[in-house]
Amino acid sequence: MENLPRHIAIIMDGNGRWAQQRGLSRLEGHIAGVKAVRRVVEACRDLGIPYLTLYTFSTENWRRPKEEVEGLMTLLREQLRSQTPELKEKGVRVIVIGKREELPRDLQEQIKQSEEETSQNSELNLILAINYGSRAEIVNACKKLIEKVKRGESNEVNEDVFRSLLYTKDIPDPDLLIRTAGEKRVSNFLLWQIAYTEFYITDTLWPDFTKDDLLLAIEDYKKRKRKFGGLG
Ligand code: IPE
Ligand code: IPE
Ligand code: MG
Repeated sequence: MENLPRHIAIIMDGNGRWAQQRGLSRLEGHIAGVKAVRRVVEACRDLGIPYLTLYTFSTENWRRPKEEVEGLMTLLREQLRSQTPELKEKGVRVIVIGKREELPRDLQEQIKQSEEETSQNSELNLILAINYGSRAEIVNACKKLIEKVKRGESNEVNEDVFRSLLYTKDIPDPDLLIRTAGEKRVSNFLLWQIAYTEFYITDTLWPDFTKDDLLLAIEDYKKRKRKFGGLG
């Protein structure tokens, strides 16, 4: 496999529709979605893709019914807890981006533990966007920049300085953005970072997404001619 994307970002959408089609609760759709996460993490690791970012919970997802939100928080905590030993063993580094300080305390603690336990790994960087919103990230970067300027630490405002204040400061921009379940929108995900990212949208619902679907997306990506504003 040549010309692989270095960083794949995924908007994992369609868990609710998958459950609805089967007469199940939305939460059961999210539980089915976890299996797809495992498949994709394993596939990326096997392919040697060094960065995978998964949109797991957005700053707008708090608008959902309390029951669903609480179920998601518990599922996240439990999955992180039970999967961290295997992730650690398989060379996966867990990194969480988003407003973690607003998450339930027990989830925050589990995140810290998973990040610490896997911090020496480098085969695959698994970036989980939890309570992530790109507009909040950008406003937060602006606040930090103003503070820096006030303290006299920076008198320049440029792209490099700005980038260094984002949650993703140490992560290269995504090469490929996949959205499952067919919606053609970005939903407040990585607005700054996807300036030149290639998009791939599939109707497949997230719980049905397999390694073969990932390979199809990668094959499609490989045919793209990236030009970055130039002539390629
Ligand atoms: C994505 O699936 C998972 C989260 C946003 C947490 P949805 O729950 O948005 O599924 P649909 O869009 O209702 O089908
Ligand atoms: C985006 O999906 C958020 C995540 C996948 C975590 P949504 O289902 O929340 O997006 P919208 O509401 O359809 O734009
Ligand atoms: Mg959705």
